[in-house]
Amino acid sequence: MKILVTGAAGFIGSHLCERLLEINEIEVIGIDGFINPSLKQTKLRNLRLLLTNPRFQFHQVDLRDADLKNLLEGVQVVYHLAAMPGVRTSWGTDFQAYVDHNIVATQILLEAVREHPLTKFIYISTSSVYGEKVGKVSETSMPTPLSPYGVSKLTGEYLCKVYQASYAIPIVILRYFTLFGPRQRADMAFHRFIKGILQRESIQIYGDGLQTRDFTFIKDCVEATVAALDAEGVIGEIINIGGRERASILEVISLLEYLLNKKANLEFTERLKGDPLDTWADISKAQTLLNYNPVCSLKTGLEQQIIDIRSNHMSH
Ligand SMILES: NC(=O)c1ccc[n+]([C@@H]2O[C@H](COP(=O)([O-])OP(=O)(O)OC[C@H]3O[C@@H](n4cnc5c(N)ncnc54)[C@H](O)[C@@H]3O)[C@@H](O)[C@H]2O)c1
Repeated sequence: MKILVTGAAGFIGSHLCERLLEINEIEVIGIDGFINPSLKQTKLRNLRLLLTNPRFQFHQVDLRDADLKNLLEGVQVVYHLAAMPGVRTSWGTDFQAYVDHNIVATQILLEAVREHPLTKFIYISTSSVYGEKVGKVSETSMPTPLSPYGVSKLTGEYLCKVYQASYAIPIVILRYFTLFGPRQRADMAFHRFIKGILQRESIQIYGDGLQTRDFTFIKDCVEATVAALDAEGVIGEIINIGGRERASILEVISLLEYLLNKKANLEFTERLKGDPLDTWADISKAQTLLNYNPVCSLKTGLEQQIIDIRSNHMSH
């Protein structure tokens, strides 16, 4: 089976490709435009293991001007992860990049698969589409994004839905809740925290640090994502992918202080606009449809992320 993965050089895309290639009969075509040139070294490092695999083909190309007809030749399933991520940077003039990569690029890909028979088109969305909710959030909850990023990803979902309705594209939408683990993006909280503590630099905490997140370990999330390949009854569905543990930012900091045996130097700043206070996934649908069962604890996952940061992100 041939699978196309967009955003293949990213944090999540690279892990997904590696896991897919553990299945012998799968070939993966990875696309990534390295859209932030300053992250080129990170992307190349993410791809390191993949590039030696004869069943992996990589194309460094932007979806908006890729020869998609050719790239889709023989492809049965598309995983669409390519996007401009991050809530903080989605305000102001930077929003244009969110429109280009999350909306326009998604529409171009959907147009390309219109004439191309697929068994599944799996769109990776985010908990940011929900906005501020109280308690566990299920897929039936009304999306009310708080950030331009959330709006752009929700627009991508709606584009998938209209292409499904008019052209019978077999859409599956997975909404991920904050991911962590090896290769986590340098702009994400745990990455900043671990590096800050190791280098004894101050760490900015937005707000009072009591905000909570449903933290999902990368390998758990990838298992759910791969399960969507063969799962029945998922076409047209939206499925939350959350983690095993929720915690507040301050709880994560104290766990890191314990694991690193160093004190964090915290600097509290204003709460981020567009960031909800709490996220909490109801994952019962994923349990039923994808047999999903997140196993990795926060502590074990953080230990793995610390190893990654020590070996790849510290000057020796
Ligand atoms: N990281 C999280 O916690 C999280 C949570 C929820 C949802 N998501 C979603 O998961 C997906 C992957 O996120 P990530 O954290 O791995 O981000 P990432 O930035 O590491 O990966 C995204 C990749 O997409 C590529 N890309 C973007 N626009 C492109 C285009 N037009 N053409 C080709 N390549 C393009 C980028 O170069 C990048 O390598 C995104 O869709 C994001 O919205 C992530």
